[in-house]
Amino acid sequence: MKMKQKLKTGIIGLSAVLLAACGSTGSGSDAEKLTIGTDAAYAPFESLEGEKIVGFDVDLLDAVMKEAGFDYEMKNTGWEPLFIALKNKEVDAGISAITINDDRKKTYDFSSPYFESINMILAKDGTSIKSAKDLEGKKVSVQNGTTGQEALEKMFGKSENIKKFENNTLAIQALLNGEVEAVVADNAVVQEYAKNNPDKKLVTITDQENFESEFYGIIFPKDGEHQEKINKALKKVIENGKYAEIYKEWFGEEPNVDALKQ
Ligand code: ARG
Repeated sequence: MKMKQKLKTGIIGLSAVLLAACGSTGSGSDAEKLTIGTDAAYAPFESLEGEKIVGFDVDLLDAVMKEAGFDYEMKNTGWEPLFIALKNKEVDAGISAITINDDRKKTYDFSSPYFESINMILAKDGTSIKSAKDLEGKKVSVQNGTTGQEALEKMFGKSENIKKFENNTLAIQALLNGEVEAVVADNAVVQEYAKNNPDKKLVTITDQENFESEFYGIIFPKDGEHQEKINKALKKVIENGKYAEIYKEWFGEEPNVDALKQ
């Protein structure tokens, strides 16, 4: 959403009151405020802490926007509404652990990659599931419209057994309720959940053969006006070590920055 409020030049003597009413900073500056959408139910990338959206994506976005010189606000649109908002240009960009893929590239633009990810299985301790193939014929939950759903459909076709939920929290809830036997979602997310909820007795199962490596990008409406600046700033933040600093804060280890250079 463009909140640009240009003060017409040449009008001298506007009262301070009127300036305030215009929403100006009072300094006559012309900072544009961008709106960035997200689905804040995907810790450690974005989640709610009270009213506040926190996470790796949030801190990275902040560094990038500062570098690019943009004022911004984040909006918790939810997952599927985010894509609609981008199409309608109701948001200027999105950051939400969004995998860059060819299908999405038809409709949206992406920044260069900022995080490598792969789908992973979350199940209850004692499960017989050892690989993605073992999910065949079992009820599995995913967040609707994610690469997790896509990966399952590629293996098993569109199936009644693939239970789709509006957000990943609900997909995990279905596992806890016994509605499904497993969840498929991004590795860092399922690992974080299992680690933070030891009482739920969950296990994570990797399958590097049946799940493919993916990369997250910041998403933009096609041919938007801000992506060049934002992408440049992202590259800068990765190069100057700020990215590594944020990464270490959230993941407790050094990132493999080389993996992002493609
Ligand atoms: N990386 C996956 C995808 O792009 C899942 C992302 C879900 N993100 C979220 N904030 N719920 O499809």
